Amino acid sequence: MILKATNLFKTYHLPHKIVEVLKGASISVSAGERVAIVGRSGAGKSTLLHVLGGLDKPDSGSVEVDGRELYFGSQFQCAAIRAAKIGFVFQAYHLLPEMDVTENVMLPALTGVTSLTRRQMRDRALSLLSQVGLSDRSTHKPLELSGGEQQRVAIARALMNEPDVILADEPTGNLDRATGGQVMDLLFSLSGSGRLAVVMVTHSPETANLCDRCLELRDGLLV
Ligand SMILES: Nc1ncnc2c1ncn2[C@@H]1O[C@H](COP(=O)(O)OP(=O)(O)OP(=O)(O)O)[C@@H](O)[C@H]1O
Ligand SMILES: [Mg+2]
Repeated sequence: MILKATNLFKTYHLPHKIVEVLKGASISVSAGERVAIVGRSGAGKSTLLHVLGGLDKPDSGSVEVDGRELYFGSQFQCAAIRAAKIGFVFQAYHLLPEMDVTENVMLPALTGVTSLTRRQMRDRALSLLSQVGLSDRSTHKPLELSGGEQQRVAIARALMNEPDVILADEPTGNLDRATGGQVMDLLFSLSGSGRLAVVMVTHSPETANLCDRCLELRDGLLV
């Protein structure tokens, strides 16, 4: 298993009430697998993805990525595993506007988890941009790109450190149907045959059907 989460609990404590979001959710993903997560708005899909990706610590339960436990060690260890093993793609791209596209793609490598030189990072970023069809946009700023192009940059960035798993939270949520289809095709072409697994939150039944498995997050559990 490339990703194994067991018995996740997560509760938000607000001043006036407690919101129980995850109530024992478990998931196992093998190398190369594509898994869709569906569920109604507010079901906790983004929360789950953040917990799986080392961005948000669960109250209890464990998350193992390639056999390494994310949350038992220090925050620093968690960040190191995350940077080496996990690529994140958000609905709203989250690119840094002041950096050009190439620098955005290089960012995950700059955290120091790779042994690449700056020159090698740049070469790899450019090769990833070519892979996602954006060679001719490498010196542009994110806001000079269309939504679909920005999301392809985000996917290239997610691939920078050669992760084992990409976690994508409604990656086509901001895109029109055709552009969204291209982004999905890209995610699918990257996964499946090799080691890279993809776990994606989607509202689209068609997208969910293309995945190897579809899980619904309901009442805090994955079913
Ligand atoms: N930082 C937070 N503080 C307090 N409550 C939160 C926080 N983040 C999420 N919640 C609550 O947790 C619940 C789940 O939120 P989450 O964003 O995970 O849902 P979702 O399934 O991704 O929804 P959507 O499909 O609309 O994106 C929501 O009811 C929300 O109110
Ligand atoms: Mg969400």
